[in-house]
Amino acid sequence: MKALRIIGAGGHGRVLADIAEAMGYRDIAFLDAAYPDFARSGAWDVIGTPADIDESEYALGVGNNQTRIGLLASLPCDLVTLIHPSASVSPHAEIGAGSVICAGAVVGAFAKLGQGCVVNTGASVDHDCVLADGVHISPGARLGGGVFIGARTWVGIGAVVREYKSIGADAMIGAGAAVTRDVADGTRMGGVPAKEF
Ligand SMILES: CC(C)(COP(=O)(O)OP(=O)(O)OC[C@H]1O[C@@H](n2cnc3c(N)ncnc32)[C@H](O)[C@@H]1OP(=O)(O)O)[C@@H](O)C(=O)NCCC(=O)NCCS
Repeated sequence: MKALRIIGAGGHGRVLADIAEAMGYRDIAFLDAAYPDFARSGAWDVIGTPADIDESEYALGVGNNQTRIGLLASLPCDLVTLIHPSASVSPHAEIGAGSVICAGAVVGAFAKLGQGCVVNTGASVDHDCVLADGVHISPGARLGGGVFIGARTWVGIGAVVREYKSIGADAMIGAGAAVTRDVADGTRMGGVPAKEF
């Protein structure tokens, strides 16, 4: 395995480093212009900024969906896909470059994830779901089969989305929400059943 450089040395970056270590990467370090004073973050060194791209492999350790997708479009390097060994990912699922599947997450058969998506700890994305680029499914959230989620949308901790519902781009689904109807672009939803708020 090549060296892995994670862009973003904050909490989400440390999660990625931990996943990479579990996958067998041994030479892991961060690049981050926002933390110029960091020498270390968690168990790993901060060795420079995203301007220091070389022949290593790269991952995007930035939690904010808009920032992550902006970096994805602008970086002159290919991004790896990180999948924790304890995650269950169907061999019939497609996972885009720069996406991350965290510990205990499940991605079902024929699900399609775009680039730079995050399926966080213990979340599940069931069969035939489609996630556009930059979607974040937070810890413990659950998508029924055939759900569509538009670009850069954030589904909060423990939220539930009923099967075959469609959520637009740049939407926010609050923690613990139960989405029972389609959601338009840019809408913030919360509660059970979820309402705009
Ligand atoms: C929806 C959310 C973005 C709103 O954040 P916010 O704008 O800071 O909202 P506030 O905390 O100021 O709360 C505003 C009101 O909405 C309510 N509210 C906040 N989040 C809510 C939620 N998830 N469901 C229902 N009501 C919620 C609050 O109780 C408050 O009501 P009040 O005015 O009657 O007291 C946020 O609460 C949330 O759910 N974030 C997701 C967190 C998450 O999943 N993190 C993952 C990290 S990996």
